[in-house]
Amino acid sequence: MAGGVTGGSAGTWSDRFEQGLHPFIEAFNASIRFDLTLLQEDLDGSIAHARMLASTGVISSDEADQLVQGLETVRREAAEGTFQPGLADEDVHFAVERRLIALLGPVGKKLHTGRSRNDQVGTDLRLWLRRRLDELDGDLQRLQRALFQQADQHRSTLIPGYTHLQRAQPLCLAHHLLAYMEMLERDRQRLRDVRGRVNICPLGAAALAGTPVPIDRRRTASDLGFETIYSNSLDAVSDRDFCVEFTAAASLVMAHLSRLSEEVIAWASEEFAFVRLTDRCATGSSLMPQKKNPDVPELVRGKTGRVFGHLQGLLTMIKGLPLAYNKDFQEDKEALFDAFRTTRDCTEAMAILFEEGLSFRPERLEQAVATDFSNATDVADYLVARGVPFREAYQLVGAVVRRCLDENCLLRDLSLEAWKELHPAFEADLHEALAPRAVVAARRSEGGTAFERVDEQLALWAQRLQGS
Ligand code: ARG
Repeated sequence: MAGGVTGGSAGTWSDRFEQGLHPFIEAFNASIRFDLTLLQEDLDGSIAHARMLASTGVISSDEADQLVQGLETVRREAAEGTFQPGLADEDVHFAVERRLIALLGPVGKKLHTGRSRNDQVGTDLRLWLRRRLDELDGDLQRLQRALFQQADQHRSTLIPGYTHLQRAQPLCLAHHLLAYMEMLERDRQRLRDVRGRVNICPLGAAALAGTPVPIDRRRTASDLGFETIYSNSLDAVSDRDFCVEFTAAASLVMAHLSRLSEEVIAWASEEFAFVRLTDRCATGSSLMPQKKNPDVPELVRGKTGRVFGHLQGLLTMIKGLPLAYNKDFQEDKEALFDAFRTTRDCTEAMAILFEEGLSFRPERLEQAVATDFSNATDVADYLVARGVPFREAYQLVGAVVRRCLDENCLLRDLSLEAWKELHPAFEADLHEALAPRAVVAARRSEGGTAFERVDEQLALWAQRLQGS
């Protein structure tokens, strides 16, 4: 075995151990393959810990300086590619400590005073996630900006609105896109909320019970930018709620991206033909020369399952664990890292798609809303405005629709005489009221699709995006 952290006879562990690990178990046990991701945070945490130890007189300030310099050397070596731990290092924490001891000798052995890998790994993970949350927020904002740009350009474009994927009522396209802005805004709020509970420091809980070493938890916490510290040492080393919470929030981001993806995929089909994909974000077929495939939204839709799966995995991982630390926790990392990577990549891909990967086809959209029965509710509303009870109007229009279907025509094709025969309340202004644009403009209720309402919302979003 390649020499232990402590230099004990069996490798990593104390002299209690006489034999090294079985090679398969060594590999099975190790997390170094994936937890090197935490290297920067591990170094940051150790630097804060070393400084704190000097501040309370546990080590001298000269020793602290040496430790900090040694840790910065490891950072440099990692940047240069010369810090390359192997399986025998087990994890990032041991790898750093081992290198530090190799660099500094006996002083290096003082770093781990008053802490355990249990509070250390929790600290690293929280520092890592806090940084990543800020990056993800930036990506979500970029996607919001891209959606806003499209919405802004399509303030007066119409699009069929659906329920049950059946034509329901026409909409302003900007209104449709702004619905996704709302979802993404909730996602950002949720992630901010998660950040609050990530930003609590477990360092100093040591293995599980605290430590007799005079440490200053508030100092390390504030050095590392944490808002506060865990109050209970057992909870500090056993809490992985924040991993679950992040993955749950990320799952909702993915659900939203997946719904948007599904719409883009449908819109890009020949059947809908509401958008054109640009060459920058679409692919061809290896066999069928005419094909242009929406791979980006399909991949986003497909990757959603991974994040949902990680949520299930994490929930199952913590369920039934006794206090305090259990090695099961090592399983949090790959789930968390992959959930983050996937969510971030998908958010960026969707941002690029809306920035330069697709363009709406207003002519097609205009034609679509003009050739269906999605103005049927408006005929009923027309009668309601003239004193007819809604249910009666609803029945009457239903019969008219059936008649039109039999005669293979649209509501607008019926003459005023024909309408008047059906009900005397119909007047010459009916046809105007049935035009898709008029139908959209009429839905002025708060939160409705009327152009003036959508303009108000766009103005609010413009402000919000400027401020955030
Ligand atoms: N690699 C471990 C993990 O990811 C670090 C903590 C190990 N603690 C322990 N008591 N074995 O959880």
